[in-house]
Amino acid sequence: MKTVEQVTAINQVSEYPQIEQTLWTELGSNEVMRLHCNETAFDIPQNLKQQLVNKMLNVAWNRYPDFHQTQLHALIAKEAGVATENIVLGNGSSQLIQQIVNCCSKFLSEAIIENPTFTVYHQMCQNERMPYKNWHISEENAFNLSTFPQVTEPSLIILTSPNNPTGASLPLTTLKTLLNQHPGCVFMVDEAYGEFGGESALPLVNEYANLLVLKTLSKGYGLPGIRFGYAAGNASLINLIKKHTIPFTINVFTELVVTDFLTNPLYSNVVKAHQARVKNLRDFVSYLLDEMADETSFSVLPSAANFILLRFHDAGLLEQIKQVLSARNIMVGYPVAQCLRLTIGTEVEMNTVLRLIKYEIRQHKASADELASIQVTQEMV
Ligand SMILES: Cc1ncc(COP(=O)(O)O)c(C=O)c1O
Repeated sequence: MKTVEQVTAINQVSEYPQIEQTLWTELGSNEVMRLHCNETAFDIPQNLKQQLVNKMLNVAWNRYPDFHQTQLHALIAKEAGVATENIVLGNGSSQLIQQIVNCCSKFLSEAIIENPTFTVYHQMCQNERMPYKNWHISEENAFNLSTFPQVTEPSLIILTSPNNPTGASLPLTTLKTLLNQHPGCVFMVDEAYGEFGGESALPLVNEYANLLVLKTLSKGYGLPGIRFGYAAGNASLINLIKKHTIPFTINVFTELVVTDFLTNPLYSNVVKAHQARVKNLRDFVSYLLDEMADETSFSVLPSAANFILLRFHDAGLLEQIKQVLSARNIMVGYPVAQCLRLTIGTEVEMNTVLRLIKYEIRQHKASADELASIQVTQEMV
């Protein structure tokens, strides 16, 4: 039996930054630009929110939600193109990740996790004392099958498409190859950013009994505050996963908002317009950043998500940009060494960040040139 101190120490030994450190580093002012946790900058219009608030007045707050969430299951199943028994609902996809890892750790020997990736997977495996191996994905050939680790079957294979933080999307052909090579493993494909790009694995759920696809309304639908996600997969696997949670994970307000969102065309029009705006901005910002980039400063990774990852070749420049952004309360992510992850915000926010980066590059180059000329002068003397 371990002491509390020993257990806490084990939990602290991790090569991965804790999620609080990477995402929630508040800068001490109310005037912050939130470009660090891949939210959308575009909220739903006030009049649509008001309609939802009015509907909430008619909900019975003194009763539990429907235990089986029958209507919501039917709606989500229709959205996903599967049967209702193929769906499990969750309080955001993070809760489902916890539930799936918790369940799978009981009958699978280890996990294979794409790396770099969303830190919650590693955290959940550590919590469940489930050993894991990383599949290192590179920049040039994002999902290189020749580097896929040796699998001790049966394992849990955790993939994210598009990947957070790189933005790369996993080709379905690569996924199918892995599914065919490892029929004894459970695959969890997290498509949190799927509405912004890449091919969805949802249609494969009816074909492969060992595949789970995770979806959330937090990113492409712009509803992280509502806390709703779902997983689609084989009915027996879904049944097993459903046992590893508490009752009533979806509250009556979430149920109401999600139902309206998926049935009222006014919302879907707003959501589609926001998604298109984010994708256009992402491509434009990537283009402008690419114009500034070179082999001495940074490179821009192509992104199928609502963020862009910059890999810095000059640590001094990254540090300088970090300080300038921080001084202006502009929060961005630093999920991997030498990298900066920029969430797509409003046009005005993007303009501000691009101008700052451009200015800092110029300043950095000017000081490097100045230093070089001083050295030349000293050598001549
Ligand atoms: C890859 C990935 N999956 C899941 C989540 C969590 O989403 P949710 O709000 O549904 O819990 C995130 C959040 O940033 C994420 O990046």
